[in-house]
Amino acid sequence: MRVERTLITSERIAQRVAELGAAICADLQALAPEPVKSDASSPRVVLVPILTGALVFVADLIRRMPLPLSLRVAAVSSYPGATTASLGARLRGELPRDLKGQHVLVVDDILDTGRTLSLILSLIREQEPASVRTCVLLRKQVEKREADVEVDYVGFDVPDEFVVGYGLDYDGLYRNLPAIAVLGRGREEHP
Ligand code: IMP
Ligand code: MG
Repeated sequence: MRVERTLITSERIAQRVAELGAAICADLQALAPEPVKSDASSPRVVLVPILTGALVFVADLIRRMPLPLSLRVAAVSSYPGATTASLGARLRGELPRDLKGQHVLVVDDILDTGRTLSLILSLIREQEPASVRTCVLLRKQVEKREADVEVDYVGFDVPDEFVVGYGLDYDGLYRNLPAIAVLGRGREEHP
């Protein structure tokens, strides 16, 4: 496998992440105005990035969200090893437990079959948060999504191809590419 072509440049990603941060902030500030005093019982904004793919995206996104927030990571795997076919979402480790009454924003790198987000959303909803929203950097244009999930914030719609970079991997590699690229079937190796 090798990088075939750049789909989204790092400049376009940065621009879009800034727009997403601003839009999310405006919505969350309306939903959860900052309390006058810091009160442990008042709802907080909690971002739940889904590891490992959302790592790069969430790191940039939170720096475009100037409001009080905390991070609680969740880990899901669906593409074990050298495969580009999703094998179903599996939770790895524990889900954050303290989400009751909080305003939760689940952040993932890409929406493909929808199984990852639908798994995480059902587990999070069991904890009765005050609100749950979802944000993905990429949404694959598939004919029919296996799990019916709506996302609230989308960075880019992308064609139904295997993409890498900006956190997304193939067999653990390419996460460090600054841009989003399409991976093709060539013999060339990762640089
Ligand atoms: P879903 O559960 O099929 O919606 O897939 C979501 C997860 O699969 C994402 O969090 C990614 O980690 C991974 N994934 C889906 N499509 C791609 C891709 O094109 N490249 C790399 N990872 C992908
Ligand atoms: Mg993932």
